Amino acid sequence: MEVVIAPAQELAVLAADAIEALLRRRPDAVLGLATGSSPLKVYDELARRHADEGLSFAGARAFMLDEYVGLAADHPERYRNVIDVEIASRVDLEPGAVRGPDGLADDLPAACAAYETAISDAGGVDLQILGIGTDGHIAFNEPGSSLASRTRIKTLTQQTREDNARFFDGEVDQVPTHCLTQGLGTIMEARHLVLLATGAQKAEAVHQLVEGPVSAMWPATVMQMHPHATVLVDEAAASRLQLANYYRQTYAAKPAWQGL
Ligand code: GLP
Repeated sequence: MEVVIAPAQELAVLAADAIEALLRRRPDAVLGLATGSSPLKVYDELARRHADEGLSFAGARAFMLDEYVGLAADHPERYRNVIDVEIASRVDLEPGAVRGPDGLADDLPAACAAYETAISDAGGVDLQILGIGTDGHIAFNEPGSSLASRTRIKTLTQQTREDNARFFDGEVDQVPTHCLTQGLGTIMEARHLVLLATGAQKAEAVHQLVEGPVSAMWPATVMQMHPHATVLVDEAAASRLQLANYYRQTYAAKPAWQGL
């Protein structure tokens, strides 16, 4: 696992560099997109490169991590709509190139199974962008999630609903109680995981993710078992890392050609 500690804008550039390198190598790459505030600067940087430098997503496909259950199709906080606004509509992804779990399906387990099939039919995800919840969740895999879990329905914790209430006029009761989420086992099959975290409120989750024992209590710790995981954090999110100086030295001495 590689840990990079840098200001938020630099982290966004690094993540965008990794995505750009992938798209140049493989124009039909499969991207994994995340919602939440953590990836927003990355999406801004990708949109800028598309507009100013011609970075093209025309051959790419993308899969979302998760979706709320039951939010109306036109609800602005439906993750499908959030991803359209934040990235899909700002680059040249083809209509239909972005898929997400169907939180409005009549048969939710069937929708989850279909989503797993769609990801594997696409050849799997090449690069998965991730954020992390204050309780250590990735996607919506809350504490207690099986480390081998697949796409399924989950109940959101009170903590997550409170954290996400800011997107629902500050009203926790407006935040759905359930979601569909890629499982930890699903996410672990992506070939490169790139997690971004900023701010002191993420410091404990980041410490557990990088340095804690692998445990369903901190679901993101499963990333310690991934052969290619990158953790991009600012100083505040890195503030509880025991080996922060080692990560700094390692990154400072990294050969420029190596990339993330
Ligand atoms: C939500 C999303 C996660 C995201 C997390 C952190 O619960 N389902 O994918 O990582 O929030 O969000 P933020 O980046 O806004 O802190």
